[in-house]
Amino acid sequence: MAALTPRPLVGITGGSGINLEPMLSKRHASWPFADCPGLASATAPGHEGRFIHGEAAGVPVILQQGRLHFYEGHDYAAVTWPIDLLRDWGVHTLLFTNAAGGLRASVSAGSLMPVAAVRTWPFRHWPRRPERLNPDLTLETGTPPGCYWWVPGPAYETPAEVRGLQRLDGGAVGMSTAPELQRSKELGLRAAAIAVITNTCGASGPLSHGHVLEQARGQSERLRQILTEHLPRLASR
Ligand code: HPA
Repeated sequence: MAALTPRPLVGITGGSGINLEPMLSKRHASWPFADCPGLASATAPGHEGRFIHGEAAGVPVILQQGRLHFYEGHDYAAVTWPIDLLRDWGVHTLLFTNAAGGLRASVSAGSLMPVAAVRTWPFRHWPRRPERLNPDLTLETGTPPGCYWWVPGPAYETPAEVRGLQRLDGGAVGMSTAPELQRSKELGLRAAAIAVITNTCGASGPLSHGHVLEQARGQSERLRQILTEHLPRLASR
């Protein structure tokens, strides 16, 4: 694989509907998932399935627009393959963002929750039981850090599941990030995650992916500002 110049140091993953592209002050190249050997195309709405090599806050980065999920029918190796690619392109630090439901009063729709811990709903496709699946860094956003519970999806949680996750100290719940975090640990990469809270779990009315995308789009600008502030500090390991 050809080396990228300048070497990207930080990989940033934009989740459902999250638009991080305007963070880039320079763009060197972009390519779709389909151009990467072994990588499936993104099928979930709001996931473009593309990498952009560029610069943000003076730091060479790769922006991954969209990701793969178990609920699209992929296994652990497929879902986490972008992490191997980012490592091969030179990245030492990963910033994951995702759309998630808020499980506590302090983590309601509109919050950007720094992920302090990740826990996973029992799922037969995990390669092994994750032990301490916690990000290495917790980035300040103004919302108290919390625990992100990963669920396989694609259905949103039932009221009973929401109550169960609340009892297990959940701050937010979503369908991504945990597999990628586990892979980043296996590869010795440093990682942080921020959950964009698009809905309050247990609120009345049905939840749709369309609503999640709209909310995530609306919070993207504030998220870009926060990530841009943190980036210079993350350039060195
Ligand atoms: N549950 C799971 N995943 C989600 C949610 C939710 O409430 N909101 C956005 N992604």
